Amino acid sequence: MDAWNQLFEECKVCTACELHKTRTNCVFGTGNPQADLLFVGEAPGEQEDLSGIPFVGRAGQLLDKYLYAVDIPRESVYIANILKCRPPKNRDPLPAEEDACIEFLRRQVRLIQPKIIVCLGRISAMRLIRPDYKITKEHGQWVERGGFLMTAVYHPALLLRDPRKKEEMLIDMKEIKARLDAIKREETL
Ligand code: URA
Repeated sequence: MDAWNQLFEECKVCTACELHKTRTNCVFGTGNPQADLLFVGEAPGEQEDLSGIPFVGRAGQLLDKYLYAVDIPRESVYIANILKCRPPKNRDPLPAEEDACIEFLRRQVRLIQPKIIVCLGRISAMRLIRPDYKITKEHGQWVERGGFLMTAVYHPALLLRDPRKKEEMLIDMKEIKARLDAIKREETL
């Protein structure tokens, strides 16, 4: 078995935190495991738990619209979450749950070797960029970390609650597409 499938198999039977007791499916991730662009959300919701696929519920459908708007095919990127199992009633992940789960994401990142990592929302940005990350103030700003270009955008679920933020989201997504294209151009030189 290759390293990727090995990791997936480990994830499916993980019992490192309490969330395994209530999961229907482990939501490992979806997309291209060789992607240049990796999106990292927070944790599966109800639809994701039922299907085993991240971002398939209402928030996911909105994410799809942004990907389409900036001409990034969903199947060309990889989409994962900080937590692979759904927290009950979609509550925020507990620090202990993140600690128990984060190694799966680290190993995914090592295998995918993306050029760009985009945090979807505050929880992901606080875990991957800085614990005191302020999404309202800092979304769309770029940092370099361990050889990756990183940024954070609003979580699509927040945009469903506060549509006034949609314009800023589109600006951030356009910049992600521009940076991705620039990387691709460099690769073909
Ligand atoms: N919200 C997330 O953060 N991740 C999903 O997979 C679905 C909704």
